[in-house]
Amino acid sequence: MVGQSMGALDWLSGDKSSSEGHKISNDPVIVEGVIQTPSTEDLSLLNYNHPHNSPTDTNVKKDVNPFNIKEVFASNPYFAAGGGLMLLGAGFSILRKGVGSFANLMYRRLIVDLEIRNSDKSYDWFLNWMSNYPNRISRQLSVKTSFVQHQNGSVMTGFSFVPGPGNHWFKYKNSWFFVSRERSERIHNSGQPMETVTLKTLYKDRYLLASILDEARQMAMKLNEGKTVLYKSWGQDWRIFGKPRSKRVIDSVILDKGIKEDILTDVKEFLKSGSWYHDRGIPYRRGYLLYGPPGSGKTSFIQALAGEFDYNIAIMNVGEPNLTDDRLAYLMNNIPEHTILLLEDIDAAFNNRSQSTEKGYVSGVTFSGLLNALDGVASAEEVITFMTTNHPERLDPALLRPGRIDMKVLINNASDYQVEQMFLRFYDDKEKLPIFMKKFKDLELPYVSTAQLQGLFVQFKESPELAIENVEILKSPHMNNFFYE
Ligand SMILES: Nc1ncnc2c1ncn2[C@@H]1O[C@H](COP(=O)(O)OP(=O)(O)O)[C@@H](O)[C@H]1O
Ligand SMILES: [Mg+2]
Repeated sequence: MVGQSMGALDWLSGDKSSSEGHKISNDPVIVEGVIQTPSTEDLSLLNYNHPHNSPTDTNVKKDVNPFNIKEVFASNPYFAAGGGLMLLGAGFSILRKGVGSFANLMYRRLIVDLEIRNSDKSYDWFLNWMSNYPNRISRQLSVKTSFVQHQNGSVMTGFSFVPGPGNHWFKYKNSWFFVSRERSERIHNSGQPMETVTLKTLYKDRYLLASILDEARQMAMKLNEGKTVLYKSWGQDWRIFGKPRSKRVIDSVILDKGIKEDILTDVKEFLKSGSWYHDRGIPYRRGYLLYGPPGSGKTSFIQALAGEFDYNIAIMNVGEPNLTDDRLAYLMNNIPEHTILLLEDIDAAFNNRSQSTEKGYVSGVTFSGLLNALDGVASAEEVITFMTTNHPERLDPALLRPGRIDMKVLINNASDYQVEQMFLRFYDDKEKLPIFMKKFKDLELPYVSTAQLQGLFVQFKESPELAIENVEILKSPHMNNFFYE
């Protein structure tokens, strides 16, 4: 068509040179009486070497829809090569991500994770439960040494293999559980390394997790049944101290007439009055001070009382040099549940309002820190605080205020009544009691502590006659503190 039209042009003008020089003309072309407008295509071909009018340019401008990516790629050689690869790569990565997040989604839909940290009580419960569970697969084990105390007081050591750091499996009620125990480099405030146990199971079996934890808890409770757990402050936390002790029978502590009953009644009354305290907005706590000479049974009585009410004991030594006011406040506000707080020998810590060492600088807990901690003890649960001292006269009156100490009881050296009761408890021999009492009174001791009496009776435990014969041992002053801990 181009050839044709040009030919026609040449032919019409009769000008050879112009035809050879590819003269451009936008004039209408008349071929045999028909007027034709040269198309852009014709013109572009004529101006092939003209940069602003290259056929490709014209093509793009004319036909390619910039919104049609396919066309853009096809029409650009760079895109066609590199872009293709890019697209492929992006496609794959989207696919991979898609598969990844799908797997993630499925995982989250199908699997439940339960994390237990070693700062939580159930951590030990669970490990102990698992170590006693027969249906398990564990290759990494840790040894845990345990003590068993018999009724007669002898201690037997036992070993159990608890799941060590690593992976374990067990089957519980026809469902599989995956357990991983991990130890971290990080250290708790309490000084222990942080550890976690993670249990994984199918979503449909999630309700079994609660039942496992419940079994573990019950198992732990059973182990401590009839026992009193002792906690001691350790770093920032309370830690179980030693092995749980057999409960001390309340009858084994012999106080003067009526004293035991008075305290027991008061504690019982307090434990019943939760709603009374809550209704009046009074912090639900009660403080007791047992004071008197050493070896009179103060500590033993608190231990027996805890056993009577099925409570544990948290012992705090407020005189500890690296105990600060902040730590004291934290500890007092985080007493393990069902636990009596015991502050022993409270006078030793504070002879003055501010505690200072011989070198003159203040260390440890300050007196106001203790008062604040006592006042600040706020808990939904009841808080029973027992304090003991051999020197009540050294206590600051601020400590003796109700709310801090609500009941003060003198636990004194043995009265005649107590001497009789102690004798009967050890020998159960009513006939020999008057003989013993006669010899004892003849000694005219200014005082004798119950601990001293226990010392004599333990020494001659098989024979009341020998105890009677050797009653003069009670004169020995060092026996006064024989059992004083
Ligand atoms: N009133 C008591 N009844 C029975 N045992 C007692 C009594 N007082 C002291 N003891 C015995 O003496 C020892 C020391 O008693 P403890 O309770 O530590 O005295 P305290 O705390 O008053 O100094 C314990 O072994 C305890 O069994
Ligand atoms: Mg004591």
